[in-house]
Amino acid sequence: MSKRYPAAWLDELRARADIAEIVSAYVPLKKNGRSYWGLCPFHGEKTASFCVTPEKQMYYCFGCKAGGSVIDFIMNIERVDYHEAVALLADRVHMTLPQMQDDPDYQRRRQQRGRLLDANREAARFFHEQLFTEAGRPMLDYLKNRGLSDAVIRRFGLGASPEGRDVLTRHLRDMGYTEEELRLAGLTLVYEAEPATEDRPALPRSVRDMFRGRAIFPIIDASGNVLAFGGRSLDGSPPKYLNTADTPVFNKRYGVYAANLLRKERNLDHVILVEGYMDVVSLTQFGVRGVCATLGTALTPEQARLLKRFAPKVYLAYDGDEAGQKAIEKGLAILEAENVPCRALIFPDKLDPDEFIRRDGLEAFEQLTPMSPAAFRLTRLAQGFDLSKPESRVELARAAGPILADVDPVEREVLLQRLSIQTGFTREVLMEQAGRSAPRTSAPKPVRPRRENRDELSADPSVRAQEQLIALLATGQLQKDVVKQEDFDDPVLKDICVALNSGVSPVALMEEQEAEEDRRRLGRILQLPTGEDLNQLLTMAEECKQTIRRTRLDAEIASLRQQIATASGPEKQAALEQLQRLTAQQRQTRTASPS
Ligand code: UTP
Ligand code: MN
Repeated sequence: MSKRYPAAWLDELRARADIAEIVSAYVPLKKNGRSYWGLCPFHGEKTASFCVTPEKQMYYCFGCKAGGSVIDFIMNIERVDYHEAVALLADRVHMTLPQMQDDPDYQRRRQQRGRLLDANREAARFFHEQLFTEAGRPMLDYLKNRGLSDAVIRRFGLGASPEGRDVLTRHLRDMGYTEEELRLAGLTLVYEAEPATEDRPALPRSVRDMFRGRAIFPIIDASGNVLAFGGRSLDGSPPKYLNTADTPVFNKRYGVYAANLLRKERNLDHVILVEGYMDVVSLTQFGVRGVCATLGTALTPEQARLLKRFAPKVYLAYDGDEAGQKAIEKGLAILEAENVPCRALIFPDKLDPDEFIRRDGLEAFEQLTPMSPAAFRLTRLAQGFDLSKPESRVELARAAGPILADVDPVEREVLLQRLSIQTGFTREVLMEQAGRSAPRTSAPKPVRPRRENRDELSADPSVRAQEQLIALLATGQLQKDVVKQEDFDDPVLKDICVALNSGVSPVALMEEQEAEEDRRRLGRILQLPTGEDLNQLLTMAEECKQTIRRTRLDAEIASLRQQIATASGPEKQAALEQLQRLTAQQRQTRTASPS
């Protein structure tokens, strides 16, 4: 199986094609902790030992030891070859296959995509330049009136689409783009000629620019491709924002506005997701980092997964009106379903983020308290009750149960405190009420996998320690140099260590194992428990390394003993001294770490 796809592209494919979602189209899965469990589709069984771990982007069956990436899964379940599996997945998540030699149809589509992206880039350039001409004057005035600086206008590449009927179309046609290309890119509208009817004369063919007389926000992806445009009408006449419809290069469900800028941000604690283009531009101008927006739709799971790549948390900063608050509720649920830690930022007086930061400034924005999903839900819930009435307070206390039942003890404590003040019930009573509420998700306990067959585990403690070390390294949480290739004696594991340290993902490595035996072994290793936090990880790594060192010492001593038995003279003397040193070391390690 030769790989012809760039590693980065495959990484993106695996990231977008959420393994739990793909697998659950074939196998019913139940969530438990960080994994999903179901009946293995690759061997007959009655208890669930088939496990999908999105974090690792892997599946593994503790029964039949089948395991691998989402690509492996599709290969095995659809019984297709590697390339077909990749093509199938790419299609599902709307990714374009990288260059392939042997598919003319594919080549043509790819080439077309390139042409449309080029046309978009030229259009963006044209719009931006127009901003500083007479034709773009009203748009520039508009943007300035909304408080935007020259710097931020340039940073976002904002532009102006002139009033004329086909100014951009003519410009791009002169550059060599065909009308068909411009139509496909969503830049040009083409109305075919129509013969006369009884009610009206014949209509001639007409060609017009899609965007006319609007301020333009180009939508640019993380790789810098101009995918589409949003155009705001200057006087608010509908539609307030006109957006490029879906095209061969753009699907609004998958992207976010300002992904190009997000990608350059380093060490973001969280991404701030807002509703509008203006909110992004405005917050950024005020100095807020990591802001982006969905593209005129509700947040999708695909976008949630995309955001996860930019920062470990997502804050929803939607408009302060009722629609915005409803959207937050939905958005938090989507993010939670994708296991993305999330918070909500709430703006007073129904303001949107842009209005708020203009009114109250950056400092006020930064002092907003991010609300956890449970806190947000509880607050929303409480708003529905008139707390001056005793019976409403009772109702609230009851209704809050399920929300409280669903959070960790520390947060529950904080929420109980508030709820107790609101309802007048003691924390104990509220606790008990929460305890009666069934948790919202009642996942049946999966049958714990049987222990491994003994013969599959190496009898050699050092090999086991080396395997464990690989599992620890594969979590990606250890600092560089904690686990090094010198730690390994097993040549296969040594190679794996080198690959992991050079940035290859564990799941990619899994796909690359040619020999079935190596695959199974790596699959088993990657399922080894690794502890929860960094401290545990480090402790385990240290223990493994000690075991490996001790085994090496034992081997060295054994070989010295042999040497001594046959040597003589100064050689024997040197060996004896060496032996003494080593046995001293051996005693030390034994007492240092009892095992
Ligand atoms: P808003 O109406 O909240 O826009 O729509 P806004 O960002 O506050 O706009 P300004 O401040 O009046 O300029 C939020 C987002 O919803 C999409 C756009 O993406 C917009 O940024 N939208 C809104 C549309 O696509 N079309 C519309 O007609 C309105
Ligand atoms: Mn606004």
